[in-house]
Amino acid sequence: MGKFIITGGNRLDGKLCIESAKNAVLPILAGAILTDEQVVIENCPKIKDVLNMVKILSSIGVKTVFEGNTLIIDASGINGYRLDSTLTKELRSSVFMLGALVSRMKKAVLAYPGGCNIGLRPVDIHISALKSLGVKIEEMGGEISCNAENVKGNERCLDFPSVGATENAMLASVFADGETIIRNAAKEPEIEDLMYFLVGMGAKITGGGTDTVRITGVKKLNGTQYKPLCDRIEAGTYLIAAAITGGKIELYNCKAENISSLIHKLRNNSCKIRIKNDIIYLKGGDSKKAFNVETSPYPGFPTDLQAQIMSLAAVSEGTSLITENIFETRFRHVSELNKMGANITIRGKTAIVSGVKKLYGASVYAEDLRGGASLVLGALAAEGMSVINDICHIERGYAQMDLKLSRLGASIKKIE
Ligand code: EPZ
Repeated sequence: MGKFIITGGNRLDGKLCIESAKNAVLPILAGAILTDEQVVIENCPKIKDVLNMVKILSSIGVKTVFEGNTLIIDASGINGYRLDSTLTKELRSSVFMLGALVSRMKKAVLAYPGGCNIGLRPVDIHISALKSLGVKIEEMGGEISCNAENVKGNERCLDFPSVGATENAMLASVFADGETIIRNAAKEPEIEDLMYFLVGMGAKITGGGTDTVRITGVKKLNGTQYKPLCDRIEAGTYLIAAAITGGKIELYNCKAENISSLIHKLRNNSCKIRIKNDIIYLKGGDSKKAFNVETSPYPGFPTDLQAQIMSLAAVSEGTSLITENIFETRFRHVSELNKMGANITIRGKTAIVSGVKKLYGASVYAEDLRGGASLVLGALAAEGMSVINDICHIERGYAQMDLKLSRLGASIKKIE
């Protein structure tokens, strides 16, 4: 399962170029099967979730090859619509394949992607959105089976602005007869990026990134070459790494406006932050002050940065209240941070974080992707040595985290 050995106390100092966003690349890979022509994804991060998605594509006859960080996809030989359950259970975002397969193959069979460590993660909103497009759906024996000889454009208001359900509805309606309108759509930047990718293939979509997405069905889509947007969650994670160690960092290839809610919190905590085009300069302060966070759909504070900013709160003077409104069990990192000497109690959806002067090295376990990242951040600030176990969770969404942190001056070693 792999581990990081981290000796805390070093102030990070350096530059880092941010990767393309995991949560943009994954739906884009699903969209790549919507054409027989070549699709080229530039600057594609080789993280576990992406490699698993590539395995899913290969399992249905889609040819994929990496040339450096460029991924070339050829779906002309696609020969299946039933996805291997071992792969789909491994990867929640395999659910995006439902919409893409319905469009390409008129059929899809996928084992429930199931819950993971942050919540139940039902797919009811996905299913009701697909049904509103005329997709016949059967749920039996832990599988979702979709049949859609012809998908009809329709208007659908999502019960909740679900990122995945918005993306699935977009992927399912690119070839639909007529216009589809998705209301109460998720507004995350990754939705806008999926729109740009699909429009680059010839799709007719407007409103991606707003609460109303309109798709007019077309007959076919062409190949394209595309560089997905930068990973705002990776960027936020490294900004917090510099803040928690009182260091400084220059982040390249990142759109500050996509993490303005985090930047606001970091400025109030102790940081001096300057933004110039796609560069963010941060200098962490020594007198860190408590703050409150309520996660909410974009442009609110992202749930994917909740665990990471909790580590900063743990060493900030005063009491911080961190409320998780998106997922039911996204506080698994709390017990592990407390092993490092943090003083955090949970009341319902809110973590009450009483700041302590110092954290201490400990052996802790990553339970999920972002919770694991929060333990790395705690270890960077802690006195002494920490062992972060089960880093496979972290490697799902962060490329070469140990190398990047080493280059920034951290004392970190990876043990396979
Ligand atoms: C996407 O997950 C992201 N993953 C998540 O990032 C992110 O936390 C989440 O959006 C919210 O921003 C990818 O893009 C691959 P949702 P998704 O559907 O689409 C409930 C990370 O760390 N819901 O917006 O699964 C759901 O249970 C990952 O990078 C239903 O009830 O999120 C949750 O409580 C973690 N029924 C809430 O909505 C549904 O049919 C938000 O889920 C769908 C969702």
